[in-house]
Amino acid sequence: MEEMDGVNASEYSVRRILPEETWAIRAQVLWPEKQPDESCSLPVDRDAGVLHFGVVHRANVVGIGTFMPRQHEDLDASIGYRLRAMATHPDHRGRGVGARLIRHAEGVLRDAGEGGIWADARKVALGFYAGLGWEVSGPFYTVPKRGLHRLVWTRFDE
Ligand SMILES: CC(C)(COP(=O)(O)OP(=O)(O)OC[C@H]1O[C@@H](n2cnc3c(N)ncnc32)[C@H](O)[C@@H]1OP(=O)(O)O)[C@@H](O)C(=O)NCCC(=O)NCCS
Repeated sequence: MEEMDGVNASEYSVRRILPEETWAIRAQVLWPEKQPDESCSLPVDRDAGVLHFGVVHRANVVGIGTFMPRQHEDLDASIGYRLRAMATHPDHRGRGVGARLIRHAEGVLRDAGEGGIWADARKVALGFYAGLGWEVSGPFYTVPKRGLHRLVWTRFDE
């Protein structure tokens, strides 16, 4: 395990990462039944317009999030990106890693002329999105193997 004493926010940076750089945290945090290999790929991972962001700490990717062009039938059509597979390594939670990743992605997408982002959020993560100012709306629904979820979204075009 990494030494965490003295770590501060400046030791974290955000950059675009390759799809395969998401695998370790996808497997460890989100899909524990999987190995950190191609089985952690999403079918869209290499599609046009898909952005994988990582928060990097001492050359290690410790936070991940994948943003793909996709509208939601219940939301305004200007909200054109979907966030999937958002996670922070357990040793790095509560340090602003997730927030930094979201804020970075929002900035990149806003600058690209996009209007907003939505996600199917796990029940345990709803407070994270609400704390970032995202809307939490609609009923709970069950995602097979992953439990209760709710729609979360933000828009930055108005
Ligand atoms: C949800 C998750 C990505 C948050 O990442 P993180 O790096 O710990 O988040 P941050 O440190 O940037 O937290 C930002 C703020 O949200 C709050 N927060 C973080 N996780 C939260 C949660 N699950 N519930 C409520 N608030 C939360 C933090 O306290 C912090 O608040 P503050 O600004 O008042 O201090 C992380 O806990 C995680 O990977 N969880 C397991 C996987 C998961 O559920 N992913 C989301 C799937 S939709």
